[in-house]
Amino acid sequence: MEYKYLDYSHLSSVLEIEEESNPYPWTELNFKDCLEKGYYSLALEKDDLFVGFAIMAISSEESHLLNIGIKKEQRGLGLGEGLLKKMIIAAEVMGSKKIILEVRISNQSAYRLYEKIGFEEIGKRKNYYRLPEGREDAYVMAKSLKKGISSKLFFNKN
Ligand SMILES: CC(C)(COP(=O)(O)OP(=O)(O)OC[C@H]1O[C@@H](n2cnc3c(N)ncnc32)[C@H](O)[C@@H]1OP(=O)(O)O)[C@@H](O)C(=O)NCCC(=O)NCCS
Repeated sequence: MEYKYLDYSHLSSVLEIEEESNPYPWTELNFKDCLEKGYYSLALEKDDLFVGFAIMAISSEESHLLNIGIKKEQRGLGLGEGLLKKMIIAAEVMGSKKIILEVRISNQSAYRLYEKIGFEEIGKRKNYYRLPEGREDAYVMAKSLKKGISSKLFFNKN
């Protein structure tokens, strides 16, 4: 397993996963926009094959997990969990106090993953996601992060 920073060369593989995952997938432009904005974005490779990605907007108050996806035939092997843990570490190291995310109310596998890693449901956003026809609500989930990792890294005098 190898984690790399996501870049433009990964876009077609990311889109493949996105399109097999979502009823109303992000477009190439959405992903390019994330890269241009400098969001923290990881690619996961297994045996030199691209198998997953995750994108997060990091800020000191609250980081926002924007997207995560694992190739369909590689799901259920612990890869999504491993990738999510890397994102959590990155947010902690940058001094974020918490991570929030939205998840479709019908997306049981993602919901269970977040719950397993310690995210809690904190609310609902009505009609948050587009569907080919109509809209779907989202649960908002949040996880508080360990305090002070960044201050230990950068400001510890010992
Ligand atoms: C959600 C997703 C990233 C999970 O990745 P994954 O690699 O399949 O998940 P893992 O194998 O790491 O599973 C970790 C935990 O998640 C939960 N989980 C994963 N798949 C599940 C499923 N089909 N049903 C129920 N729980 C599931 C379980 O708690 C699991 O732990 P366990 O194996 O000890 O039971 C993957 O299903 C995916 O890419 N889905 C499409 C994209 C998507 O929905 N992204 C989330 C947008 S909010």
